[in-house]
Amino acid sequence: MIKFGIIGCGRIAQRFMQGFAAIDDVALVASYSRRAVTVDDFVAKYGGKACYTLEGLLASDIDAVYIATLPDSHAAYSIAALKAGKHVLCEKPATVNLAELDEVLKAVKETGLLFMEGMKPPFYPLYTKLKAYIANDPIGPVGYVRAGSAVADCPPDHPNYTLDLVGGSLMGIGIYEAFLAIDWLGDLQDIQTMGRFGDTGIDMFAIFQTLHTGGYAQLYAGFDMHGKGDALIVGTLGHITIHKNWWNPAKATIDYLDGRSVEINEPFTAGGLNYEIVHFCHLIKSGATESPIIPHQMSRQMIGMIDRARAQVGLVYPSEK
Ligand SMILES: NC(=O)c1ccc[n+]([C@@H]2O[C@H](COP(=O)([O-])OP(=O)(O)OC[C@H]3O[C@@H](n4cnc5c(N)ncnc54)[C@H](OP(=O)(O)O)[C@@H]3O)[C@@H](O)[C@H]2O)c1
Repeated sequence: MIKFGIIGCGRIAQRFMQGFAAIDDVALVASYSRRAVTVDDFVAKYGGKACYTLEGLLASDIDAVYIATLPDSHAAYSIAALKAGKHVLCEKPATVNLAELDEVLKAVKETGLLFMEGMKPPFYPLYTKLKAYIANDPIGPVGYVRAGSAVADCPPDHPNYTLDLVGGSLMGIGIYEAFLAIDWLGDLQDIQTMGRFGDTGIDMFAIFQTLHTGGYAQLYAGFDMHGKGDALIVGTLGHITIHKNWWNPAKATIDYLDGRSVEINEPFTAGGLNYEIVHFCHLIKSGATESPIIPHQMSRQMIGMIDRARAQVGLVYPSEK
């Protein structure tokens, strides 16, 4: 049984609990959120103890914390939890920037505990099955990835629009695109970014094209257009379409140069976060300090890519000034 505490009881924490309910051998012991009313409502719905201070949560009988606050507080909570002897599963993006992530990784090294960024797509059954399928029936070396997501239905009071809370399309959405490009194409070599800002000072829409060790990617992220979409992954012998919404993948088509077309359907259950939770618990039991699927170096590359994209559009967060 892995005993969890939750920090930040908002929207994604509720979806986490949907996944949690589908897993054996996990227990929600305690939760903490900035406002008492938020944690009280959460605990009334999902059980466990309400904590009104961070210290109270970290003193609880828990093995691990799931950090589901906004990115402005991810690093501080991750470091505090590690130093209190707790393993950490932290929502994406892991931190505001690479310098902050390296501080977290320093705490991982000092404590020997597990830290994993909750970058969910590779844990979905579709993604796992797709990787296994093309290992047996390859599309050749992959040299191009095209993907993006723009969500026009985000309510105006959403923290995505708040500069102080590290909102913006690159941080909120672009980090997924960074994952896909790095996962299929390897390390970032170069990047070109364009973007436009909204009234609140965040990037409302950004396009970034990147050069990696394996090839090129063309990516976008935004909040003012309805652009939810597919991902295209192109190799010398064929291409893969991960159908919309690729970041919650359930269906892919592989089209081969020889004319064959293979469809993979693999629906996800319980909201989809259950798969990363199972993986995280397995890592705790095996004594690992990082995930082989989202290793620390990959988290460093993802946030490093967003750092470079932000620098090119001129997006600096108040905490970085
Ligand atoms: N994996 C995914 O599929 C996915 C999807 C959406 C979002 N996310 C990520 O999840 C994170 C949270 O997003 P969300 O949509 O859940 O936001 P949200 O609904 O605003 O939830 C965050 C919650 O954390 C609490 N909080 C905020 N700052 C805090 C602080 N400094 N200390 C303690 N509690 C704090 C807030 O509650 P009170 O202030 O009322 O206490 C709020 O309810 C973000 O990093 C986002 O990128 C992941």
